[in-house]
Amino acid sequence: MAQILEFAVELAFESGRIQKRHYRQEHSIFHKGEIDLVTDVDLECQERIVSLIAERFPDDHIISEEKDNVFEGRKNRWIIDPIDGTTNYAHGYPFFCTSVAYEAEGRVVCGVVYNPIFDELFFAEIGKGSYLNGQKLKVSGVSELRQCLLATGFPYDLGTSSLNNIDHFVSFLYESQAVRRDGSAALNLSYVAAGRFDGFWEVSLNPWDTAAGMLIVTEAGGVTSDFAGKPFDIYAGQVVASNGLIHRDMLRVLREGRKLL
Ligand code: IPD
Ligand code: CA
Ligand code: CA
Repeated sequence: MAQILEFAVELAFESGRIQKRHYRQEHSIFHKGEIDLVTDVDLECQERIVSLIAERFPDDHIISEEKDNVFEGRKNRWIIDPIDGTTNYAHGYPFFCTSVAYEAEGRVVCGVVYNPIFDELFFAEIGKGSYLNGQKLKVSGVSELRQCLLATGFPYDLGTSSLNNIDHFVSFLYESQAVRRDGSAALNLSYVAAGRFDGFWEVSLNPWDTAAGMLIVTEAGGVTSDFAGKPFDIYAGQVVASNGLIHRDMLRVLREGRKLL
Protein backbone atom coordinates (compact mmCIF):
# COMPACT_ATOMS: atom_id res chain seq x y z
CA MET A 1 0.00 0.00 0.00
CA ALA A 2 2.85 2.43 0.80
CA GLN A 3 3.91 1.72 -2.77
CA ILE A 4 0.59 3.08 -4.10
CA LEU A 5 0.84 6.21 -1.97
CA GLU A 6 4.43 6.84 -3.02
CA PHE A 7 3.49 6.49 -6.66
CA ALA A 8 0.43 8.74 -6.27
CA VAL A 9 2.68 11.41 -4.75
CA GLU A 10 5.12 11.00 -7.64
CA LEU A 11 2.24 11.55 -10.11
CA ALA A 12 1.05 14.68 -8.30
CA PHE A 13 4.59 16.12 -8.15
CA GLU A 14 5.18 15.41 -11.81
CA SER A 15 1.89 17.11 -12.73
CA GLY A 16 2.76 20.02 -10.42
CA ARG A 17 6.09 20.49 -12.19
CA ILE A 18 4.28 20.79 -15.52
CA GLN A 19 1.78 23.28 -14.03
CA LYS A 20 4.58 25.42 -12.58
CA ARG A 21 6.57 25.40 -15.79
CA HIS A 22 3.65 26.89 -17.76
CA TYR A 23 2.11 29.00 -15.00
CA ARG A 24 1.13 32.57 -16.02
CA GLN A 25 2.17 31.96 -19.61
CA GLU A 26 0.11 31.95 -22.78
CA HIS A 27 -2.20 28.95 -22.97
CA SER A 28 -4.38 27.39 -25.60
CA ILE A 29 -7.81 27.42 -24.05
CA PHE A 30 -10.62 25.17 -25.26
CA HIS A 31 -14.24 25.52 -24.16
CA LYS A 32 -16.18 22.46 -22.98
CA GLY A 33 -19.10 24.82 -22.32
CA GLU A 34 -19.56 28.59 -22.26
CA ILE A 35 -17.65 28.96 -18.95
CA ASP A 36 -16.15 25.46 -18.66
CA LEU A 37 -12.52 25.59 -19.79
CA VAL A 38 -9.72 23.18 -20.46
CA THR A 39 -6.17 24.35 -21.17
CA ASP A 40 -3.31 22.68 -22.99
CA VAL A 41 -1.71 22.23 -19.53
CA ASP A 42 -4.66 20.13 -18.25
CA LEU A 43 -4.10 17.90 -21.26
CA GLU A 44 -0.32 17.72 -20.85
CA CYS A 45 -0.64 16.83 -17.14
CA GLN A 46 -3.25 14.18 -17.90
CA GLU A 47 -1.20 12.64 -20.68
CA ARG A 48 1.86 12.39 -18.46
CA ILE A 49 -0.07 10.94 -15.50
CA VAL A 50 -1.94 8.40 -17.63
CA SER A 51 1.24 7.23 -19.35
CA LEU A 52 3.10 6.84 -16.05
CA ILE A 53 0.23 4.76 -14.61
CA ALA A 54 -0.04 2.63 -17.74
CA GLU A 55 3.68 1.92 -17.59
CA ARG A 56 3.75 1.01 -13.89
CA PHE A 57 0.30 -0.55 -13.38
CA PRO A 58 -0.83 -1.70 -16.85
CA ASP A 59 -3.80 -3.68 -15.47
CA ASP A 60 -5.33 -0.82 -13.52
CA HIS A 61 -8.31 1.14 -14.76
CA ILE A 62 -7.98 4.95 -15.03
CA ILE A 63 -10.62 7.65 -15.02
CA SER A 64 -9.43 11.19 -15.59
CA GLU A 65 -11.45 14.32 -16.24
CA GLU A 66 -10.26 15.24 -19.71
CA LYS A 67 -10.45 11.83 -21.34
CA ASP A 68 -13.31 9.57 -22.41
CA ASN A 69 -14.15 7.48 -19.39
CA VAL A 70 -15.79 4.11 -18.97
CA PHE A 71 -17.00 3.76 -15.42
CA GLU A 72 -17.18 -0.02 -15.21
CA GLY A 73 -13.92 -1.76 -15.23
CA ARG A 74 -11.23 -3.48 -13.33
CA LYS A 75 -11.27 -3.48 -9.57
CA ASN A 76 -8.30 -1.22 -9.13
CA ARG A 77 -8.87 2.26 -10.43
CA TRP A 78 -6.94 5.53 -10.50
CA ILE A 79 -9.16 8.60 -10.30
CA ILE A 80 -7.42 11.71 -11.58
CA ASP A 81 -8.13 15.40 -11.87
CA PRO A 82 -5.08 16.71 -13.74
CA ILE A 83 -5.92 20.28 -12.70
CA ASP A 84 -8.66 20.93 -10.20
CA GLY A 85 -9.16 24.68 -10.47
CA THR A 86 -8.65 25.13 -14.21
CA THR A 87 -10.36 28.54 -14.29
CA ASN A 88 -7.93 29.74 -11.60
CA TYR A 89 -4.98 28.27 -13.51
CA ALA A 90 -6.03 29.96 -16.74
CA HIS A 91 -6.21 33.32 -14.93
CA GLY A 92 -2.92 32.95 -13.06
CA TYR A 93 -4.71 32.69 -9.70
CA PRO A 94 -2.63 30.33 -7.56
CA PHE A 95 -5.40 28.13 -6.14
CA PHE A 96 -5.36 24.85 -8.05
CA CYS A 97 -4.00 21.35 -7.63
CA THR A 98 -3.70 17.86 -8.99
CA SER A 99 -5.92 15.26 -7.36
CA VAL A 100 -4.98 11.58 -7.45
CA ALA A 101 -6.99 8.84 -5.76
CA TYR A 102 -6.77 5.06 -5.81
CA GLU A 103 -9.88 2.93 -5.54
CA ALA A 104 -9.49 -0.76 -4.70
CA GLU A 105 -12.52 -3.07 -4.74
CA GLY A 106 -14.88 -0.07 -4.68
CA ARG A 107 -13.17 1.72 -1.78
CA VAL A 108 -10.96 4.78 -2.03
CA VAL A 109 -7.85 3.72 -0.14
CA CYS A 110 -5.39 6.47 -0.99
CA GLY A 111 -5.74 10.17 -1.85
CA VAL A 112 -3.23 12.87 -2.77
CA VAL A 113 -3.89 16.56 -3.47
CA TYR A 114 -0.99 18.82 -4.44
CA ASN A 115 -0.86 22.59 -4.94
CA PRO A 116 2.52 23.27 -6.58
CA ILE A 117 2.45 27.04 -6.05
CA PHE A 118 2.11 26.80 -2.26
CA ASP A 119 4.07 23.51 -2.35
CA GLU A 120 1.38 21.90 -0.20
CA LEU A 121 0.95 18.15 -0.41
CA PHE A 122 -2.12 16.72 1.31
CA PHE A 123 -2.34 12.95 1.47
CA ALA A 124 -4.13 10.11 3.22
CA GLU A 125 -4.13 6.35 3.30
CA ILE A 126 -7.15 4.54 4.64
CA GLY A 127 -6.76 3.87 8.37
CA LYS A 128 -3.50 5.81 8.60
CA GLY A 129 -4.52 9.45 9.01
CA SER A 130 -4.10 12.54 6.82
CA TYR A 131 -1.01 14.65 6.41
CA LEU A 132 0.07 18.00 5.01
CA ASN A 133 3.73 17.92 3.99
CA GLY A 134 4.28 15.18 6.56
CA GLN A 135 2.41 16.86 9.41
CA LYS A 136 -0.66 15.05 10.77
CA LEU A 137 -3.97 16.81 10.13
CA LYS A 138 -7.01 17.20 12.33
CA VAL A 139 -10.31 18.91 11.55
CA SER A 140 -11.30 22.03 13.48
CA GLY A 141 -13.16 22.00 16.80
CA VAL A 142 -15.69 24.77 16.07
CA SER A 143 -19.21 23.67 16.92
CA GLU A 144 -21.32 26.80 16.27
CA LEU A 145 -22.21 27.32 12.62
CA ARG A 146 -22.23 31.06 13.24
CA GLN A 147 -18.48 30.89 13.99
CA CYS A 148 -17.64 28.74 10.99
CA LEU A 149 -15.75 29.51 7.81
CA LEU A 150 -17.33 27.44 5.03
CA ALA A 151 -16.49 26.84 1.40
CA THR A 152 -18.47 25.85 -1.65
CA GLY A 153 -18.46 25.93 -5.43
CA PHE A 154 -20.91 26.12 -8.32
CA PRO A 155 -21.58 23.90 -11.31
CA TYR A 156 -20.68 25.18 -14.79
CA ASP A 157 -24.34 25.04 -15.85
CA LEU A 158 -25.42 27.42 -13.07
CA GLY A 159 -27.01 29.78 -15.61
CA THR A 160 -29.38 27.16 -16.96
CA SER A 161 -29.95 24.72 -14.11
CA SER A 162 -32.09 25.34 -11.05
CA LEU A 163 -29.81 22.96 -9.09
CA ASN A 164 -27.17 25.66 -9.11
CA ASN A 165 -26.41 26.00 -5.38
CA ILE A 166 -27.16 29.72 -5.27
CA ASP A 167 -30.05 29.17 -2.80
CA HIS A 168 -27.79 27.20 -0.42
CA PHE A 169 -25.02 29.76 -0.79
CA VAL A 170 -27.38 32.54 0.31
CA SER A 171 -28.66 30.47 3.25
CA PHE A 172 -25.14 29.75 4.52
CA LEU A 173 -24.17 33.42 4.15
CA TYR A 174 -26.80 34.15 6.79
CA GLU A 175 -26.05 31.14 9.00
CA SER A 176 -22.23 31.03 9.09
CA GLN A 177 -19.44 33.48 9.81
CA ALA A 178 -18.41 33.59 6.14
CA VAL A 179 -18.45 31.53 2.97
CA ARG A 180 -15.58 31.26 0.46
CA ARG A 181 -15.82 30.24 -3.16
CA ASP A 182 -12.30 29.76 -4.46
CA GLY A 183 -12.58 27.28 -7.31
CA SER A 184 -11.03 23.95 -6.32
CA ALA A 185 -13.17 21.33 -4.62
CA ALA A 186 -10.19 19.04 -3.95
CA LEU A 187 -8.33 21.84 -2.14
CA ASN A 188 -11.50 22.88 -0.32
CA LEU A 189 -11.87 19.35 1.06
CA SER A 190 -8.19 19.26 2.01
CA TYR A 191 -8.63 22.58 3.82
CA VAL A 192 -11.51 21.08 5.83
CA ALA A 193 -9.10 18.30 6.84
CA ALA A 194 -6.53 20.92 7.85
CA GLY A 195 -9.05 22.87 9.95
CA ARG A 196 -8.76 25.95 7.70
CA PHE A 197 -12.38 25.49 6.72
CA ASP A 198 -14.96 24.04 9.10
CA GLY A 199 -17.25 22.75 6.37
CA PHE A 200 -17.74 22.43 2.62
CA TRP A 201 -20.65 21.47 0.40
CA GLU A 202 -21.35 21.34 -3.30
CA VAL A 203 -24.23 20.08 -5.46
CA SER A 204 -22.90 18.14 -8.45
CA LEU A 205 -19.27 17.17 -8.38
CA ASN A 206 -17.49 14.39 -10.21
CA PRO A 207 -15.42 11.56 -8.69
CA TRP A 208 -12.15 13.24 -9.76
CA ASP A 209 -13.10 16.34 -7.75
CA THR A 210 -13.85 14.48 -4.52
CA ALA A 211 -12.23 11.01 -4.34
CA ALA A 212 -8.89 12.06 -2.85
CA GLY A 213 -10.23 14.98 -0.80
CA MET A 214 -12.99 13.02 0.89
CA LEU A 215 -10.51 10.43 2.18
CA ILE A 216 -8.26 13.24 3.40
CA VAL A 217 -11.25 14.68 5.32
CA THR A 218 -12.37 11.43 6.94
CA GLU A 219 -8.83 10.41 7.84
CA ALA A 220 -8.45 13.78 9.60
CA GLY A 221 -11.48 12.98 11.75
CA GLY A 222 -14.08 14.75 9.62
CA VAL A 223 -17.44 13.55 8.32
CA THR A 224 -18.71 13.31 4.73
CA SER A 225 -22.23 12.59 3.49
CA ASP A 226 -24.80 13.53 0.89
CA PHE A 227 -27.37 16.27 1.65
CA ALA A 228 -29.67 13.74 3.35
CA GLY A 229 -26.91 12.56 5.67
CA LYS A 230 -26.44 9.24 3.85
CA PRO A 231 -22.90 7.93 3.30
CA PHE A 232 -21.03 9.95 0.72
CA ASP A 233 -20.62 8.31 -2.69
CA ILE A 234 -17.97 9.79 -5.02
CA TYR A 235 -20.12 8.85 -8.03
CA ALA A 236 -23.29 10.59 -6.79
CA GLY A 237 -22.35 14.29 -6.96
CA GLN A 238 -23.66 15.85 -3.75
CA VAL A 239 -21.18 16.35 -0.96
CA VAL A 240 -21.20 17.77 2.54
CA ALA A 241 -17.90 17.57 4.42
CA SER A 242 -17.33 18.98 7.85
CA ASN A 243 -15.49 18.74 11.14
CA GLY A 244 -18.41 16.54 12.32
CA LEU A 245 -19.54 19.00 14.99
CA ILE A 246 -21.51 21.19 12.56
CA HIS A 247 -22.65 18.41 10.23
CA ARG A 248 -26.24 18.25 11.48
CA ASP A 249 -26.57 22.00 11.26
CA MET A 250 -25.20 22.02 7.74
CA LEU A 251 -27.73 19.33 6.71
CA ARG A 252 -30.52 21.37 8.32
CA VAL A 253 -29.60 24.48 6.33
CA LEU A 254 -29.40 22.43 3.12
CA ARG A 255 -32.83 20.95 3.88
CA GLU A 256 -34.69 23.93 5.30
CA GLY A 257 -32.78 27.03 4.23
CA ARG A 258 -31.80 29.71 6.68
CA LYS A 259 -33.53 30.30 10.00
CA LEU A 260 -36.00 33.15 9.81
CA LEU A 261 -34.64 36.12 11.73
C1 IPD B 1 -14.14 22.50 -10.61
C2 IPD B 1 -13.62 22.99 -9.27
C3 IPD B 1 -14.62 23.98 -8.67
C4 IPD B 1 -15.99 23.36 -8.53
C5 IPD B 1 -16.48 22.85 -9.86
C6 IPD B 1 -15.46 21.83 -10.43
P1 IPD B 1 -12.29 21.94 -12.49
O1 IPD B 1 -13.22 21.58 -11.19
O2 IPD B 1 -13.43 21.93 -8.38
O3 IPD B 1 -14.23 24.37 -7.38
O4 IPD B 1 -16.87 24.34 -8.06
O5 IPD B 1 -17.72 22.22 -9.65
O6 IPD B 1 -15.93 21.32 -11.64
O7 IPD B 1 -13.22 22.11 -13.63
O8 IPD B 1 -11.52 23.16 -12.16
O9 IPD B 1 -11.47 20.69 -12.57
CA1 CA C 1 -12.28 19.36 -10.89
CA1 CA D 1 -10.09 19.52 -13.89
